[in-house]
Amino acid sequence: MNRLQGHVAVITGGASGIGQASANLFAAEGAAVVIGDLAEADAAAAAAQITAAGGRAVGVAVDVTDEASLAALIETAVTRFGRLDIMCNHVGGSNPRKDLDVVGLDLDEFDRTMNLNVRSTVLGCRLAIPHLIEAGGGSIINTASVGGLSGDFTQTAYGTAKAAVLRLTQYVATQYGHERIRCNAIVPGAVMTPALRDNLPAEMIEGIRRHNALPFIGEPDDLANAMLFLASPESRYITGQALVVDGGMSSHSTIAEIRRPS
Ligand SMILES: NC(=O)c1ccc[n+]([C@@H]2O[C@H](COP(=O)([O-])OP(=O)(O)OC[C@H]3O[C@@H](n4cnc5c(N)ncnc54)[C@H](O)[C@@H]3O)[C@@H](O)[C@H]2O)c1
Repeated sequence: MNRLQGHVAVITGGASGIGQASANLFAAEGAAVVIGDLAEADAAAAAAQITAAGGRAVGVAVDVTDEASLAALIETAVTRFGRLDIMCNHVGGSNPRKDLDVVGLDLDEFDRTMNLNVRSTVLGCRLAIPHLIEAGGGSIINTASVGGLSGDFTQTAYGTAKAAVLRLTQYVATQYGHERIRCNAIVPGAVMTPALRDNLPAEMIEGIRRHNALPFIGEPDDLANAMLFLASPESRYITGQALVVDGGMSSHSTIAEIRRPS
């Protein structure tokens, strides 16, 4: 119940899916949580739900592609709760209808995807770091994707952007470890959230379930538990790492698929 007692966390994209589950869990473990989201009413509602349960939270409108907006979000954590210990750069995605193979993809969508996933994470890290140093250290958690681990026939921009998030995580870990700032990434596989339902047809989700080593699709809480571990002092000797939470989607090769007993 007290794994984050006295800590202050910012979670971007915290009004839905994995981000909201993490906000709820962090608050239940004693953290004060600043939920930043483009969907202002949803951010306020998510914070109100935490407050009603006896936790500490505030919902703030933010567009992570806008530096001033992201700076204001982080300032809210410091002015409302006095410090910043945990920064979750969680927003990401691309439009699968425009983010196609390398020849067919819309280049404006490529730029938008790099902005939404990579530039926003660079900004979130650089705006948070001075406050984390002020607090004597802290934990940055960046959200990547299994899409950033290998190639695919589509979503070229998304996979490229998430690969960049993984490498950026190592750069930040390297550069600020001496300030006791840890920086790790979570790498979700398929997770049942509104984004998954909107972007993947049901037959594709069923195909992933069959391909996973574990015979189910993950829920937001599965990722929230991984984020809690990376946020908490229990992971104090872990930095620059990518924690893959994918039901074993990336655990096996083509050969295993061919050998899979029917
Ligand atoms: N769900 C999955 O299967 C899955 C798999 C791999 C990676 N991920 C990653 O997890 C993260 C969140 O995914 P999710 O499925 O929980 O999404 P979600 O759609 O449930 O929630 C995303 C939230 O981000 C907010 N948002 C969107 N653009 C924003 C912006 N510019 N500024 C601020 N907020 C913004 C939305 O309003 C929404 O509340 C993303 O980085 C995504 O790439 C998800």
